[in-house]
Amino acid sequence: MRSKEELSQMDVKYLVHPAVNFKEHRKKGPRIIVEGKGTRVKDIDGNEYLDAFSSLWNVVAGHGQEAIGKAITEQLSQLEFYSGWFGFATESAIELAAKVVNLMPKEWNMGHVLFTCGGSDTNDTNIKLARMYWELKGQEKKKKIISRNFAFHGVTYGSMMATGIEFFKTYFEPYPPGFLYVAPPYCYRCALGLAYPECGVACAKTLEEAILQEGPDTVAAFIGEPVMGAGGIIIPPDEYWPMIQKICDTYDVLFINDEVITGFGRTGKMFGCMNWDVHPDLVSIAKGLTSGYLPLGGSIMSNKVFDSIAENLPDYLTFLHGFTYNNHPVSCAAGLAALKIIEEQKLVENVAKMGAYLKDRLKGLYDHRSVGDIRSIGLMAAVEFVKDKETKEPLGDLPMESPRRIEALMWERGIYARAIPTESIALAPPFTISKEEIDMVVDALDSSIAQMESEMLH
Ligand SMILES: Cc1ncc(COP(=O)(O)O)c(C=O)c1O
Repeated sequence: MRSKEELSQMDVKYLVHPAVNFKEHRKKGPRIIVEGKGTRVKDIDGNEYLDAFSSLWNVVAGHGQEAIGKAITEQLSQLEFYSGWFGFATESAIELAAKVVNLMPKEWNMGHVLFTCGGSDTNDTNIKLARMYWELKGQEKKKKIISRNFAFHGVTYGSMMATGIEFFKTYFEPYPPGFLYVAPPYCYRCALGLAYPECGVACAKTLEEAILQEGPDTVAAFIGEPVMGAGGIIIPPDEYWPMIQKICDTYDVLFINDEVITGFGRTGKMFGCMNWDVHPDLVSIAKGLTSGYLPLGGSIMSNKVFDSIAENLPDYLTFLHGFTYNNHPVSCAAGLAALKIIEEQKLVENVAKMGAYLKDRLKGLYDHRSVGDIRSIGLMAAVEFVKDKETKEPLGDLPMESPRRIEALMWERGIYARAIPTESIALAPPFTISKEEIDMVVDALDSSIAQMESEMLH
C-alpha cells in the first residue's frame, strides 16, 4: 500500500469531495479511513474512531458485517449485472421488491418498487411520477411540488429544487419552475413567531394556505421527511403529520414521504412516518436499505399511483423514466442481506431502547450555557448552540462555526459527529450502538462543549 503522504498528495491532486472547500482541502488533505468493524473505523495512522454518524447516516447495521459482504460476492460470482429495462429481471431484485413492500404498513397500501441508485434520483423519480400521475388523469396543470424550508431531498435538479436549505442551491440557477416552500415544524425557531402548543401547529396550516393561494388544481404533491434530517433534525409535534395528511387528502395533493434517512429503523420504528397516522402515496428510500454497503435507493409506489398510471398510460407508450442501474442485482443482494440483519438482530428495537437512553443522557447538556435546544428521536439527535439562551442569538460569527468547532473537538476525542445547519451538532450512530458507547459519545460531547465555550463564549 502507498504511504499516507503519497495517498494524500494524490487525493488533493485527483479526487473531488462533496462538501469541502477546495482551497481548505488542498491545505488539510483527506482523512483516509482504511478499516471498519461495528461502530468503529480506523484511519491510515491506526487511530480508531467511534462513528457516531454511521458515516453519512447510512451504515445503520454497522461496519464490517460479513454476511452483507458474502451476499455481494455470491451475487457477483453468479451474475454481476443485468439491466432492469424492457422487462428484464433478476432474482435478487424481485426478492428485495417483495421484501420492501411487505415491510411497509398495510394501511399505506404500497405496491411496487423501482430500485434506483440513491436518494436524490429517487426523489426525482417520485416527483416525476406525481406529475405523470396527474397528467395521465387529465389534470395537466397539476404540477407544482410543495416542500419546506430546511428540507433536504438531494442535489439533482428536481431534488435540489425540493430542498429548502438555500446554500445547496447557490450557484445553480436558472432554477426549474414549479417548486414552493412552506414553514417547517421547527418549534425552537418558529418561522411564524409562535409557540407550541398555543400556535395550534400553524406551520402545518401554511401548506393549506399555499395550496389555496396557488390553486389546488396546480399542486401535484407535497414532499417531506418525517423528521427533517440534514436541515437540523427537526422533529414535528405529534399533531403535525395528521394535519398535513388531512390537507393533502382534502385538496387531492399526493404525499411523497422521503424516508431516505428515517427508513429501516432510524427513529425506532421501521419507517419514520409510522410514528404518526399518515398514508403516503409515494415513498423514497435509500441509505439504510443496503446499510451503505452498495449504492441503492428505491421509489415505492402505492397501488393507487401505480394502478392509475398503468390504467391511463396509452398502449403505444412505455414508462420512459429509468437509469442504467435501476434494480441492480448486486446492490439488491446487499439490500436483502442488510435487511435480514436489521430484522434478525432486532436492530429497530435496539434503536428504540438506545434512543431512549441517548435522549435521557443528552438532557444533562442543557447545563451548558451555550446549549439552546436538544432534539432527538430514536438514534438521531441534534444539539443546537446559542450565544444566549434568552435571545437565542447564534454562537459564532460565521454560519455553523460553533458546531464545526465541536465536530473538530469530538474528532480529537476519537468520535465522529457532524455539524449541520441550525448551528447544531448531529448524532446518528449505527443501530448496533451500546449504552457504554452512548456514554462515551455524550461524555465527549460534554467536554467538547465546555472547551468550545471556553474558546468562543466570553
Ligand atoms: C432525506 C434525504 N433525502 C434525500 C437525500 C439524498 O440522497 P443521496 O445522497 O443518496 O442522493 C438525502 C441525503 O442525505 C436525505 O437525507
